[in-house]
Amino acid sequence: MKRVFSGVKPTGHLTLGNYLGALRQWAEVDQHRADSLFCVVDLHALTVDHDPARVRRLSRQAATLLLASGLDPDLCTVFVQSHVDEHARLSYLLECVATDGEMRRMIQYKEKAARERERGGSVRLSLLTYPVLMAADILAYGTHEVPVGDDQAQHVELARDLAGRFNQRYGHTFVVPKATLPAVAARVMNLQEPASKMGKSDDFGPGIVYLLDEPEVVRRKMMRAVTDSGREVVYDRAGRPGVANLLEILAACTGGDPAAMSAGYGSYGALKKDAAEAVVAVLEPLQARHRELCADPGYVERVLRDGAEKARGMARPVVDRAYRAIGLLPPLTEAAADAQSGITAEAVTASAAEAALNAAR
Ligand code: TRP
Repeated sequence: MKRVFSGVKPTGHLTLGNYLGALRQWAEVDQHRADSLFCVVDLHALTVDHDPARVRRLSRQAATLLLASGLDPDLCTVFVQSHVDEHARLSYLLECVATDGEMRRMIQYKEKAARERERGGSVRLSLLTYPVLMAADILAYGTHEVPVGDDQAQHVELARDLAGRFNQRYGHTFVVPKATLPAVAARVMNLQEPASKMGKSDDFGPGIVYLLDEPEVVRRKMMRAVTDSGREVVYDRAGRPGVANLLEILAACTGGDPAAMSAGYGSYGALKKDAAEAVVAVLEPLQARHRELCADPGYVERVLRDGAEKARGMARPVVDRAYRAIGLLPPLTEAAADAQSGITAEAVTASAAEAALNAAR
């Protein structure tokens, strides 16, 4: 079966963009068709200025929302990145395979670093190495497919390059993964800034619908969405980005086609109203499930603990293999254990020598 891995970063409250662009696809499609892992990538939240208490809170909330979105721990593995040491262990090895030029060419790094410097802040080294950690997330699990938005395609491409390079230099160790983009509404745009994505880390509150926004708040934000000059409702992403975004949101929520749906509207107001109600209807069951989960925090904790244990079991052998392949000496006790289970000839020899030594004593 295909192995699928994806992650969500606890740097802000999850948005409608996260749901329609990723979470819904994971819940409705991916967890049923593949052996899949969905991870709250909290280590990635430390790459920019952060408040420890907030990261903790957002991590728990993100995990709860993944479950509220329909991820089923009986079908997939839901866990928190920092609970599995293998990510950080592998990240270091991959840093020894990646180059500094390669990192500096990453678009997201360039943009985020520029923004950080503009604010007068310093750029954390981990922001530069972020894509390596992301590659480790992916490669540690022998992942075949990574469902992500197109802004992450370059990072997945890097993971492919690193996997290929490592395999070539040190022997076949990693599956070479590929990005898969969701079919519908891969990109929900900011309601106030339809040229930019509805991202959770941006501070453009009025243009962002959060998954936990009350219905009244959702309606207000939708009704105040920026539209374009002109009056008739046409689907034109480049020329009418505001209206196109509303049509896409409506289509994604109701399972229609944005271009076809535009024909049904004579005014922007009617479109906004329907889109708002469609969003409210999609969020309602999710929010109800979220409330239930919040009332039973022990359940979420158990899911995360079991998820981490399962994830560890998958990642550990892959990362251990990478450690051996790249030239790190196995610890003696582990070599002996390997010998008992007959894993490597080298380990067997080492353990035989050890036994002889012990016998001579
Ligand atoms: N970088 C991704 C984002 O910003 C989050 C992420 C981290 C991720 N590690 C991953 C996504 C591994 C997919 C696979 O959205």
